Amino acid sequence: MSTTTSKTVWITGASSGLGLALVKHYLLTGHKVIASARREGELKHLQRLYPDELYFIPFDVTKDSDIDTAKAALEQRTKRLDLAILNAGTCEYLDIETPDWALFERVNQVNYMGMVRSLQVCLPLLKTTPEAHLVGVCSQAVQAPFIRSEAYGASKAAVRYLLDSLRLDLAPDDIAVSCIMPGFIDTPLTQRNDFDMPFIMSPEQAAHRIEQAISKRVYEYAFPKRLSAVLALARLFPRTWFKHNARKRSK
Ligand SMILES: NC(=O)c1ccc[n+]([C@@H]2O[C@H](COP(=O)([O-])OP(=O)(O)OC[C@H]3O[C@@H](n4cnc5c(N)ncnc54)[C@H](OP(=O)(O)O)[C@@H]3O)[C@@H](O)[C@H]2O)c1
Repeated sequence: MSTTTSKTVWITGASSGLGLALVKHYLLTGHKVIASARREGELKHLQRLYPDELYFIPFDVTKDSDIDTAKAALEQRTKRLDLAILNAGTCEYLDIETPDWALFERVNQVNYMGMVRSLQVCLPLLKTTPEAHLVGVCSQAVQAPFIRSEAYGASKAAVRYLLDSLRLDLAPDDIAVSCIMPGFIDTPLTQRNDFDMPFIMSPEQAAHRIEQAISKRVYEYAFPKRLSAVLALARLFPRTWFKHNARKRSK
């Protein structure tokens, strides 16, 4: 996306972490942002600084009943949508000793079905906007298996497939589709992790990199490259990855 022409961007999961950093990044580079999440939080303060450029639409991505209201609000606010960044997400880890099986449903309802509901909100507007762009936030977790990530990793693998398939189906509508696969970012989602997070970066660094990738309309963007390289080795040598990670759990 060009930074010289003002575009209209819808960002989900905009109240915190990566989503909030993306909101700030697009506002600072002269674009109009429509932000969605359940909480308005810091976006309220930002709206005072950017009263004409930032607009908030409450949207719980787990609720079917929110789809029509969010869609109507979006279409009332703007006649065109150049870019939709479907970023809302959550993470819960499985404890295999005392499994909380319900967490699969919770994680799936936000990460995968939440993206499907978000699509229902934005797709009609994307279809009527020339050269529109749909971006989904996935994760490097899909590149190799991680311990306790049965639910999170599976939901993000579903997201990746969803985006790959949409890319084919939306090509006739001239809608580009990108899958963003971040490594570790220092956000409330990861601040509760009790394990090492190699190559972790700030939300601002991540937002900048993502904006660069989006502007090139890449199919897929996995970063940081150092983590991608480690995970590529894990795929090449799955037994070594298995031994290393299985050892970790039995510590
Ligand atoms: N942090 C990382 O290391 C990392 C790595 C790879 C991928 N990611 C992905 O990046 C995305 C953003 O994560 P983050 O790290 O920035 O996490 P975060 O700080 O916890 O932010 C998550 C965002 O998602 C929104 N959200 C959660 N549940 C929602 C729901 N039911 N309805 C609507 N919005 C909901 C939250 O807003 P409300 O609570 O206000 O609704 C919040 O704005 C996620 O998709 C995550 O999987 C993160």
